[in-house]
Amino acid sequence: EKGDIAKGAKIFQTKCATCHNAEKGGGNGQGPNLWGIVNRKAGSVANFQYTAANKNSGLICSKFLSFHVYVHGPENVSNFFPQKKIIGFTWDKKTLNTYLTNPKKMIPGTKMVFAGLKTKEERRDLIAFLDSRKD
Ligand code: HEM
Repeated sequence: EKGDIAKGAKIFQTKCATCHNAEKGGGNGQGPNLWGIVNRKAGSVANFQYTAANKNSGLICSKFLSFHVYVHGPENVSNFFPQKKIIGFTWDKKTLNTYLTNPKKMIPGTKMVFAGLKTKEERRDLIAFLDSRKD
């Protein structure tokens, strides 16, 4: 099913807009600008100071790896997993859905203070809105 962009815009206004701007060229708030976030590489807003956790969050795709990132830090994880390079992943509808369910579970160490969106309908509508914020 498709998300409702208008409903998603309202959710964004009430739950995200205190920290995030989703306008083109709109700059950062407490969190990075989210214009074009769908299909954008994680941690890639050049003038935003991310935590290492968010910036290097390619590693969090595996729960096992995320535990090591949490305990040892992203700089040291290649000691344990020499085959793994620290590379970012790309935000898409699926990774955003996982993230927005429980941000700290997906990215331990993120400085984003947000408990998550509990219902899948809310997440679906919000992600439909985010997907509309692009050229
Ligand atoms: C990071 C989405 C609510 C503060 C992020 C990222 C996404 C996101 C996708 C990663 C961006 C990237 O990798 O470029 C959302 C959505 C929200 C929400 C959709 C509402 C449902 C909030 C709130 C705050 C906040 C309420 C502030 C209280 C931050 C911060 C970061 C961040 C500080 C950077 C995290 C870090 O560097 O560790 N957000 N966010 N966000 N967000 Fe949010």
